[in-house]
Amino acid sequence: MRAVEWNKSEGYLLLIDQTLLPDKHVVVSCSTVDQVVDAIQRLVVRGAPALGAVGAYGVAVAMIQAQRAGWSADQLVEQVRRVRDARPTAVNLAWGADRVTPFISQGVDAVLAEAAAVMVEDEDANRELSRLGADWILARTGRSKVRVLTHCNTGFLATTAWGTALGIVRELHLRDALELVYVNETRPLLQGSRLTAWELREEGIDYLVQVDGAAASTILRGLVDVAIIGADRIARNGDTANKIGSVGVALACADAGIPFVVAAPSTTVDLATSTGEEINIELRDGAEVTALGGVRIAPHGAKGFNPAFDVTPARLISAIVTEQGVVEPSKMPSVDNLVKEKTV
Ligand code: MRU
Repeated sequence: MRAVEWNKSEGYLLLIDQTLLPDKHVVVSCSTVDQVVDAIQRLVVRGAPALGAVGAYGVAVAMIQAQRAGWSADQLVEQVRRVRDARPTAVNLAWGADRVTPFISQGVDAVLAEAAAVMVEDEDANRELSRLGADWILARTGRSKVRVLTHCNTGFLATTAWGTALGIVRELHLRDALELVYVNETRPLLQGSRLTAWELREEGIDYLVQVDGAAASTILRGLVDVAIIGADRIARNGDTANKIGSVGVALACADAGIPFVVAAPSTTVDLATSTGEEINIELRDGAEVTALGGVRIAPHGAKGFNPAFDVTPARLISAIVTEQGVVEPSKMPSVDNLVKEKTV
């Protein structure tokens, strides 16, 4: 199944529980706003495009619960806001909720139809940006087979289908143009080692999992031809928020002279945000850092610092790839032309 699905017969949201992968394959159902918000905040579902779909379907969950519970219109608005704001950094979550909100007055079927359109459009965008990204990378590196480094998880689990940065990896693999993928484990919640490695294994793609601290050395030793990451929010000037650790990869790529590529659907471009300084970086519980897999790895009482994302300045980004084209931010003052038509 997909990371996000709607159960039509029963009328609730189905999510693959990504906190339990790769060892346990559990599907959770959400029929209340509390359950949707909890799933978002615990990262049962995560990744910007997947959160966009959950934002859209979360509105439908709220509407159905409103009918059951007899909420007022104001109460419904408040519950939709809770879904929309459950995590702050990925613009897609709020975008997905906002996209379907104008349809509330037409009833839940109209909202569900719009949410289904979000799913279809996201998959189409991911497949197109993957083709464009693979073309750009092969032209830029001049290699017939590339060695890729990636961070976090940007595959089908993080989207509605196919993937963004990992979609490009899949496209390169299909073209027989992929040699190896270095997968950063992605502390503290291990989206790389748990999720990306699992997706690559399912695809039969060769990969190595490395600790995040190895990335700079792997790049400077010449073992990597290109780094490809996803995005949670791309500001108007091209500054890009993504999983904590991304900017370190970008700095190493800049020093090594290899391309650092950001891949995202245009729904992740936020024209209302001028620069990365305006992006709200989610600060998560420090206990996620001082423990690993539920086991304490720091002294009793140690406090953790746990920003979930960082911002890579546009000057360090070789290319931003969306379904609408490839922009090289270091050569351009603005990414406005990434988005031909956009509902914010
Ligand atoms: O905290 P997460 O797991 O939601 O963070 C996800 C990322 O940083 C991804 O790289 C980003 O959302 C792009 S997913 C295609």
